[in-house]
Amino acid sequence: MRTLVTGGAGYIGSHLVDRLVRMGHEVVVLDDLSTGSLSNLSDAMAAIRFVEGTILDAERVNSLVSEVDVVFHLAAAVGVGHIIEKPLSSLVTNTKGAENVIESCVHFDKKLLLASTSEIYGKTTTMPMSEDDDRVLGSTTIARWGYSTAKAIDEHLALAYARQGLRMSIVRYFNSFGPRLDPRGYGSVVANLLRQALNNEPLTIHGDGTQTRCFTYVDDTVEGTLRAALDDRGEGNVFNIGNDHETTINELAQRIISLTGSTSPIQRVSYEERYGMGFEDTKRRVPDVRRAAQRLGFVASTSLDDGLTRTLQWWRATHT
Ligand SMILES: NC(=O)c1ccc[n+]([C@@H]2O[C@H](COP(=O)([O-])OP(=O)(O)OC[C@H]3O[C@@H](n4cnc5c(N)ncnc54)[C@H](O)[C@@H]3O)[C@@H](O)[C@H]2O)c1
Repeated sequence: MRTLVTGGAGYIGSHLVDRLVRMGHEVVVLDDLSTGSLSNLSDAMAAIRFVEGTILDAERVNSLVSEVDVVFHLAAAVGVGHIIEKPLSSLVTNTKGAENVIESCVHFDKKLLLASTSEIYGKTTTMPMSEDDDRVLGSTTIARWGYSTAKAIDEHLALAYARQGLRMSIVRYFNSFGPRLDPRGYGSVVANLLRQALNNEPLTIHGDGTQTRCFTYVDDTVEGTLRAALDDRGEGNVFNIGNDHETTINELAQRIISLTGSTSPIQRVSYEERYGMGFEDTKRRVPDVRRAAQRLGFVASTSLDDGLTRTLQWWRATHT
């Protein structure tokens, strides 16, 4: 199979590229290296074609999409930090850029896997979050909701084109973590806490730390992505791709302190201090994993401790 991975130099994208290469598929990567890096592709580089460029360049997107069978669209401005700091360019990438990719798949009749996010559900208190649940969002004056809204537009567009024949599936990722996490910790609490623990700096927890997330090891994230894209039973559907084991941020920090043997204290930082006034967080985020299990036979199987241990091994090997 010939595949195009947009955002393939990023954290999840590069793991997906490695898997596709191991499976014997041809891979082309389109990435502007804004948050991704070539070092993420060092294992795969000899076997793939890397194109440095933006998904905002419709002509280039068209020429690459026309040459492949399946498109994995992962390129995006990712993470609440980015969205709050650069709301305009993030929105443009996540709407116009995605539109270019989706419309190109329609035009050339190519299969599309669209990467979406658990942020779609917003601040709903209904748990677990099921794919057809209502979305509950805050005001447009709060920048973070722009990420959720942009991804929802992409989903709507793909779903609308699916009614006209586009072969596509959508995956909503829940807090993926693992090797190659951005060491700046952008949008990733695991990367931030690991870096702080290993540098014996205070581990900063936003809010009171009782908020929970379901951390999903990257191999599981990739497995769910592949199944949604390649299994015909995934077609036309939206899937939560995540582990449903819930962990508070306080527990995560304790696990990281104990696994690293760090002497770091925990330091609480208010949301206002970190993100400015009017920031809203989601208290819990738990995926309903039944649809992915029933239709794709996908269950995230890596425990938090196993995933953290593997991430730590990578971190030590690459940062010392
Ligand atoms: N990491 C998570 O837990 C998580 C959770 C929910 C959704 N997602 C989604 O998964 C996808 C991958 O995210 P990630 O965590 O690997 O982040 P990442 O930042 O590592 O990857 C995004 C990649 O897209 C590239 N990119 C950004 N703008 C581009 C543009 N205009 N043109 C071409 N390339 C561009 C970046 O350089 C980067 O390599 C994204 O669509 C994101 O919204 C991730």
